[in-house]
Amino acid sequence: MAGIMAENAEVTTALYLLLRIAVLLIFFSIVYKTVIRIIFTYRIRQRYDDIPHLPRHWLAGNLVNVGEQMSPSINAHPDNAMRGIWDELGQPPAYMIDLAPVDRAMLIIADPTMAEAITQPSPEYKYSTPKSNTLQQLTQLVGHHSLVLIEGDEWKVQRRRFNKGFAPMHLNTLIPLVVSKTGVFLDRLKSYAQSGENFQLKDPASDLTTDVITQLAIEKDFQAQTVQEGTGPKSTFGFLTAIKIMSSLTEKTGQGFDISSYIHPERKVKERIYDRLYTKAIYNEIIKKLPSIKQGQSNPDAKPSTVSSAKSIVSLALTGLDPTPSVLDATVSQVKTFLFAGQDTTATLIQWMALELSKSYPSSPLYSEHHRQIREHLCAEHDAVFGSSDPFAALDVLSRENAHVDELLGSKLPYTTAFIKEALRLNPPGGSARLIPLAPYDPDYPHVKAQQPHFLDLPAWTHSKTGERHEARRIRVDGMRLYNSHFIIHRNPNTWGPDATEFDPARFLDRSGKASVDEVEEAINTNKTPTPHANGNANGNANANGSTTKPDAGSAQTGLPHPYHVSTLPTGSYRPFERGPRTCIGSNLAYMEAKIVLAIMARGFEWTKVGLDGTKPEPGEVVYGGTGREDVKVGESQGWRVWSINQVTSVPVDGMRMRVKLKS
Ligand code: HEM
Repeated sequence: MAGIMAENAEVTTALYLLLRIAVLLIFFSIVYKTVIRIIFTYRIRQRYDDIPHLPRHWLAGNLVNVGEQMSPSINAHPDNAMRGIWDELGQPPAYMIDLAPVDRAMLIIADPTMAEAITQPSPEYKYSTPKSNTLQQLTQLVGHHSLVLIEGDEWKVQRRRFNKGFAPMHLNTLIPLVVSKTGVFLDRLKSYAQSGENFQLKDPASDLTTDVITQLAIEKDFQAQTVQEGTGPKSTFGFLTAIKIMSSLTEKTGQGFDISSYIHPERKVKERIYDRLYTKAIYNEIIKKLPSIKQGQSNPDAKPSTVSSAKSIVSLALTGLDPTPSVLDATVSQVKTFLFAGQDTTATLIQWMALELSKSYPSSPLYSEHHRQIREHLCAEHDAVFGSSDPFAALDVLSRENAHVDELLGSKLPYTTAFIKEALRLNPPGGSARLIPLAPYDPDYPHVKAQQPHFLDLPAWTHSKTGERHEARRIRVDGMRLYNSHFIIHRNPNTWGPDATEFDPARFLDRSGKASVDEVEEAINTNKTPTPHANGNANGNANANGSTTKPDAGSAQTGLPHPYHVSTLPTGSYRPFERGPRTCIGSNLAYMEAKIVLAIMARGFEWTKVGLDGTKPEPGEVVYGGTGREDVKVGESQGWRVWSINQVTSVPVDGMRMRVKLKS
């Protein structure tokens, strides 16, 4: 008995000792991390001072003044607040937000040449500057090996594997599928028209894009457009519910500090359950495909021309590969990525296109003659290409055998393409966040060996309010998050002209207004030297070619339909899909879907916006403003316009509530 007691006492002493050591270790680790953080903050405070910024507090940096504008309680995408700060600073090419000690400093980029510098390959970064670590918040949603997250040679291998599934030649074989799914979308719109009810366009639009991407990726038809909520794949533990929940659980960055997001004990559990369910379902689908992929290998000449025989992206990517666990793991990640990236983005584009169409009807408070003319051009093009007898003829024409659909959807629809591009210019669903670790040592990147400081060229600029001139200079940016804000870049009047916030497809049409706008963009994307901007830019700043002419020449000089035509702008002014090696893999698919959908939306229906942007509030009534703040009153600004919120991507705040009427 005494022996046992002595043994127990020894165990207790040993445990006590271990506990003390553990407490000491934790204590020293906290002290170490705090000291490192203080040094890091001190360095950030010392550096970057020559970059335009709001006044900084010695300890809190910009945490208070910027935090206020980006508060999570303000229901708007951070792009809106960033644009507000950019205006306040006089619209510089880039500016800094210093969030140390809580986070690092951020460089918000508004200038296309600076955006190019971080997204094109460089001697230090073969595939452009690395992605920001904030993207790791997507890991659960898209998987560890997602194209969006990985870097270097691993990225190159994966990108090469999946590129073929998104190549135009392959996508053309899938047009019948997109057309048939758009037919279901059309039926839904018709039934909304019949009932006269108002609805959130986001629902049918994202069901359509879900149906398309799940079929394309894994040849699985979940019939998202027809399945009832709460049943089958939309039941509590259904596949489609899992995608939605995974997406809603993903932390949103750049929205300020929200303590409540950290104290949801059920959140992790939910995340685990749905992740398991979702990942396993995708894995099983891929495993099921393996035998037929093998068969396909023995018959590589089989031409996929119908929906059922069209090869899925996964089949193409796995053809010729040994399905080892690591190959399968990476494939699951890419499927998750495509399902996430291929849904909301394109569905959001469809919603903004509908909003622009609604402004072409006199019943809209935002009606303009300009919008009516745009719709007329669009419909005239659809009449010419698809025939004028039936407003929905596009679906029949595109599903006919030998219809040369690739040509129809390509060079034959320049105005439609320009309309889509303009909708994406004003409402880009994403941006790109990059990060170069601080030299010579970055506490968040202890594995990165000592490296050299990294610099970017900040072009000369003129303060939009004071007129003060600032000369060009080199700024140090390692250690910062570098954010290409497509929202600001695309609305920058110094690039796009004084009417930068106005919707005008003419920016993308060539001289005759007829030839393919894709040719123009191809010239820009292949980095051919762009035509010097006949107009310079509003600040008289140098463009990509160093031209600084003043903006009074107008279209007469260039013969182009818009004085700030895209081909005359600095390289990289238009970048909704980002540019460089990490450009969006799905851009051709998004254009294809958008063209088919627009071909039935424009001629077939009269669109009326309901609620925001649709009903004029009473004078003096308090409404949410363009920044989501509750303080904009009618009359002070068009505070009742639809704005975007952050749901991983940037989406319309009200899900684009609409009413549709069948056009007679
Ligand atoms: C209107 C529709 C879309 C827009 C505006 C859009 C925009 C973007 C942007 C801005 C990026 C760069 C992100 C970054 O730098 O972090 C990107 C990347 C990506 N997108 Fe899209 N996207 C769209 C549709 C799609 C579709 C339909 C798919 C696939 C089904 C897709 C798949 C991807 C993938 C896989 C990447 C990562 C590419 C890489 O790093 O190699 N996207 N997209």
